Amino acid sequence: MPSGKPLLDAALGIRQARPPVWIMRQAGRYLPEYREVRQKAGSFLDLCYAPALATEVTLQPLRRFDLDAAILFSDILVIPHALGQDVRFAQGEGPVLEPIDETTLSTLKPEKALDNLRNVLEAIDRIKLALSENKTLIGFCGAPWTVATYMIGGRGSPDQAAARLFALNHPAAFAALIDILVEVSAQYLIAQFRAGADMVQIFESWALNLDEEAFRTHVIEPNRRIVERVRSFVPDAPITGFPRGAAGMLAEYAEKTGVSVLGLDFATPLAFASSNLPRTLPVQGNLDPLRLVAGGAQMERRAEAIIEAFSDRPHIFNLGHGIVPQTPIAHVSRLVDVVHGR
Ligand code: CP3
Repeated sequence: MPSGKPLLDAALGIRQARPPVWIMRQAGRYLPEYREVRQKAGSFLDLCYAPALATEVTLQPLRRFDLDAAILFSDILVIPHALGQDVRFAQGEGPVLEPIDETTLSTLKPEKALDNLRNVLEAIDRIKLALSENKTLIGFCGAPWTVATYMIGGRGSPDQAAARLFALNHPAAFAALIDILVEVSAQYLIAQFRAGADMVQIFESWALNLDEEAFRTHVIEPNRRIVERVRSFVPDAPITGFPRGAAGMLAEYAEKTGVSVLGLDFATPLAFASSNLPRTLPVQGNLDPLRLVAGGAQMERRAEAIIEAFSDRPHIFNLGHGIVPQTPIAHVSRLVDVVHGR
């Protein structure tokens, strides 16, 4: 039964004549109205925890563009923060965390985490009330490995070396951390569905730089456990997995995790995705965000090539990673029109 929401329908496996579209990080600094609210809120985390302001910035991109979905405004690092870790967003530096190790792991407080996230859940409630019926509301969390790379390394890094080494040197402590993140993330996603999310995305943004063995234990298995746990409370829950950089492990990730939709990064070749993934599996993606910055004919050509490549399966159009702050607003309007066939 179609839901009346084109993007949710595509996620449920019903191909749409033109792909529905949303943009990763669609609420963000490329919008002047976002920068204004962000200024008013104080810190980035204050913005995430203020339900009225988080609702406002969630809805901002839908006022400008004919997008098919709203994504909850929050961050993947609210989970470590809710567990009691010190998390700050330093101006121009990205996130900075007080790194945890095998001796401080026991200071995390999983039993308190969901309660600390109640303002985020309240924002979902408010967004749902404000959203038109044909728009899909997407919730999200970070995947355990990706969140662990920040918790262990203390910040983003080009190779996740601190977390990779920690997993090798302290396998038991690492497994305990992953267990905590699987459980809290699953509870958090279940609570998001109950608050009104139509579907959720698991951001595995640092799935790259792992050998196949590490990929299976750090990425596939924790993602699979979250999917299984969420669906034991929310049967058939639509879940998108976005294992950025999975490359040759993409098909195995999709098969073993059981995600409903597979998010593709922009380095994934279209023909490779097309021939290696089952025809019934909905895919999402995968325009290079810098093509959107540059705009013009190259952007339109590539968007059409992506749409053509996935014209034989359910497809949700998106970028292959988040939109960047220097993106011109006119290019976003044009892209959404192109995707909608205008
Ligand atoms: O997509 C959306 O519009 C919803 C909101 C959202 C944000 N972050 C808001 C945000 C989502 C889904 C995320 C996910 C997220 N956060 C990921 C996974 C996706 C990805 O991009 O790979 C990761 C790795 C993070 C961690 C994070 N948060 C980083 C590395 C940074 C700094 C980088 C930057 O762009 O400054 C953030 C901060 C952040 N999260 C901002 C926004 C709008 C910018 C902060 C600001 O406004 O000052």
